[in-house]
Amino acid sequence: MEGGTAVTHQRSDALAPDAPSSGPGEPMGEHERDIARILIDGGRIQATVGELGARITQDYRGKDLLLVGVLKGAFVLMADLSRHIRLPLEFDFMAVSSYGAATQTSGVVRILKDLEQDIEGRDVLLVEDIVDSGLTLNYLLKNLRSRRPASLEVCALLVKEGIQRVPLDLRYVGFTIPPEFVVGYGLDFAERFRNLPYIATLKPEAYAEAAS
Ligand code: IMP
Ligand code: MG
Repeated sequence: MEGGTAVTHQRSDALAPDAPSSGPGEPMGEHERDIARILIDGGRIQATVGELGARITQDYRGKDLLLVGVLKGAFVLMADLSRHIRLPLEFDFMAVSSYGAATQTSGVVRILKDLEQDIEGRDVLLVEDIVDSGLTLNYLLKNLRSRRPASLEVCALLVKEGIQRVPLDLRYVGFTIPPEFVVGYGLDFAERFRNLPYIATLKPEAYAEAAS
């Protein structure tokens, strides 16, 4: 056939949500050059997100569920998780300042974008990518609680082990990881790597490049 559509044989795995960016025997993508080690592969993430969605479905039946995503990091989890929650629900998003290009929290949280909805009397589930020091989440929970939702719970994909500086009650947690800096599945370093379908650590060169 001549002159047909350009894309006739799209690889089916390019569309699968848990497809790694590079499979065995495939060259790594340019965007994976700085990856040191994959901590959690895409398949495990998808399985766990499915389980979290099933639990949330059980727990929120008959409630007025509002998912609140913390931008930017939580957008990937929000998209996947919400499709495993088999209930009517609504979305809203907040954006807060995080590390910038550094890898340590400042403890200062600034709201860059607030919710569009009034949450009074609603069942709010805050969706976070990662809990590190816990300072961001602690601030957000206090802030949201003052708006008097009917309930307020947290779903975090990742919690770094043993370094929270404030006690936090986390209802839904995907994985507990060692206190290392990680990227992928929404998480960035200097705004990059959010599109990786897995959670990974970076080579030291990646930090050096950003600092130079
Ligand atoms: P915390 O206030 O120290 O708990 O940090 C929370 C925010 O910092 C998260 O929502 C992320 O945006 C960012 N963060 C913390 N740890 C990491 C990491 O390992 N990789 C990428 N971003 C991180
Ligand atoms: Mg960040």
